[in-house]
Amino acid sequence: MTLTPEIHMPENTLIRLIDKLEQRRDLSRKEWTQLIRGRTPKAAEYLFERSRAVRIRHYGYDVYIRGLIEFTNYCKNDCYYCGIRKSNPDAERYRLTKEDILSCCEQGYVLGFRTFVLQGGEDGWFTDERLTDIISSMRKGWPDCAITLSIGERSPESYQKLYEAGANRFLLRHETYDAEHYSRLHPQALTAAHRQDCLRSLKETGYQVGTGFMVGSPYQTPKNLADDMLFLKEINPQMVGIGPFIPHHDTPFAKEPAGPLELTLFMLGLIRLLLPKALLPATTALGTIAPDGREQGILAGANVVMPNLSPASVREKYLLYDNKLCTGSEAAESLEDLRQRMKRIGYRVAVSRGDSLNM
Ligand code: 5AD
Repeated sequence: MTLTPEIHMPENTLIRLIDKLEQRRDLSRKEWTQLIRGRTPKAAEYLFERSRAVRIRHYGYDVYIRGLIEFTNYCKNDCYYCGIRKSNPDAERYRLTKEDILSCCEQGYVLGFRTFVLQGGEDGWFTDERLTDIISSMRKGWPDCAITLSIGERSPESYQKLYEAGANRFLLRHETYDAEHYSRLHPQALTAAHRQDCLRSLKETGYQVGTGFMVGSPYQTPKNLADDMLFLKEINPQMVGIGPFIPHHDTPFAKEPAGPLELTLFMLGLIRLLLPKALLPATTALGTIAPDGREQGILAGANVVMPNLSPASVREKYLLYDNKLCTGSEAAESLEDLRQRMKRIGYRVAVSRGDSLNM
């Protein structure tokens, strides 16, 4: 409820803030809060005109694709929102073998993917040694592809080893900047400060980094979102992944409402103006809360989609939230569907590594 825009600002104040953001790529905490809390449908429409224009200026009508390989759903963490948290006994656990992973890459390459994202829970089975072995094989097999890791918090030494093995990019959402809010979404062992330190360490190691947060997570306020924007400014990441919070029936947040589509799109537009050259995915969560959610994301300024390359047999086991968009169809079929969807709104799926211009 705290995120419902009850206090509408005069429209011209909102427009002025959006113009200022576009020109200076910066707002104060108070201005961010005003804009987010006071947003109106008219202001959103204006914002999307601007964010789309900025997106098109830098990236044209290209949509970059990343092949997502969900290689393990074992996780030692117990995040209150996540369906693969360790204390969910009903999650059917699986791990892909190195051969499985390489076969995903092989299929993906033929389809036109030039970035592979290894995403998984924080699974101790995947030691540095095992991961380096997998990454070096991927690097050797597909030297022209980017390798992205999305495997959570590890030590700076571990990040370094995986980088040396051939990984180029790392996705680690900060989830929420505010320490208090963070502590209401995670058990005590996990802290906002450590999460943020990991991001700084990844940057120092030389990774292109992606961070991001959930929109409409329980207890989130417009001030929290304002802090998230200030943090993005500080980190200046190559990619920012945001999506609505969606409840999962086996978690403590089962009864919480999903984050609003409208606010997620609004935040996407704001991020495009804050970081004009960033890679912004229209996320799976966005596609889950609305049938045309990803298209709407692209039209709000997003320029990346991340189709699933995992074997169809494990897809329904990587359930971070309920109703997660995942068809039983083969990767080729989903990619064709995506191509059509993008074409219908005037965009095209590009075959390239799709590096960020924000380097
Ligand atoms: N709803 C939306 N997003 C979620 N994630 C995890 N659980 C949920 C949920 N219930 C997101 C987190 C994580 C990413 C991989 O998925 O932001 O970083």
